[in-house]
Amino acid sequence: MARRLCCAWIFLLLLLLPGPAAGGKLLVVPMVGSHWLSMQEVVEKLSQRGHEVVVLMPEVSWHMKASQAYEVLTYPVTQTLEELDGAFSEYVATHLRGLPFPLNVLDMYKKSVHVFNTFFGQCKDLFRSQETLKALNQSGFDAILTDPIFMCGPTLAHYLSLPFVFFMRGFGCNLHFEAPQCPSPLSYVPRLFTFNSDRMTFFQRVENALVSLLELKYCDGFYSEALKLSSEVLQRDVSLMDLVHSASIWLLRFDFVFEYVRPVMPNMVFIGGINCAKKKPLAKVMFLFLPP
Ligand SMILES: *[C@@H]1O[C@H](CO)[C@@H](O)[C@H](O)[C@H]1NC(C)=O
Repeated sequence: MARRLCCAWIFLLLLLLPGPAAGGKLLVVPMVGSHWLSMQEVVEKLSQRGHEVVVLMPEVSWHMKASQAYEVLTYPVTQTLEELDGAFSEYVATHLRGLPFPLNVLDMYKKSVHVFNTFFGQCKDLFRSQETLKALNQSGFDAILTDPIFMCGPTLAHYLSLPFVFFMRGFGCNLHFEAPQCPSPLSYVPRLFTFNSDRMTFFQRVENALVSLLELKYCDGFYSEALKLSSEVLQRDVSLMDLVHSASIWLLRFDFVFEYVRPVMPNMVFIGGINCAKKKPLAKVMFLFLPP
């Protein structure tokens, strides 16, 4: 672990140094859609600085296309764009349906699992494509940069035995604080979806404790397909923690302005500003939602 961390830091330093002489070979395993838009900025910059960057893309995706700035390796997938769109619109519709508690939570959970499984289908297709796997193994990458939300990148990193860097917003279940072993006392660190702050009343702390019990379980539902596949390809029983805890660096696309101050580990870097890298004037229709 210590050696891996050290290698990754050296690798990151290499990436930050200018000039082709210091170039590394990076495999990027993104998530499709809006997540890719912030990652693309980084990928283009790394490429400009003389690193060899290959982006792994499913043949069917949202917002992803080839570019002069980096090399693209596409792999065949079985799902159509309509299937992806369908799963996502169902998911969005659940948020707007306004069912009473607890039906809303159950419905959202069910639809989220469905979205996870639908998108994870692309990862299954990746591991079915022997040709792609062989090409990846033979390319001699130094590291993987990945948005791990669907667990495809971490699985591939373990499969290819490469160090990996996360570029991400956050996991459910407090996993991005749990896995790097941040202290996370229930009395001070509010759990996702509770909307508590770091100053909680006794009952809010009780609520926080109850939610943290759910956290032990609810991600297993989201990731059951991912764990099944990774156990299969890595030929051992794999847990979520096994997949993510050895990430060398966590680049987190948020910061304390949006969340609460809490203890973090030195390999966690907050890069919330990256979401604003691409500036554009607000669309006219958005002004309808602004106060006069
Ligand atoms: C990658 O290729 C090497 C030999 O070139 C082989 O020993 C290794 O098993 C391969 N790894 C995978 C995951 O296919």
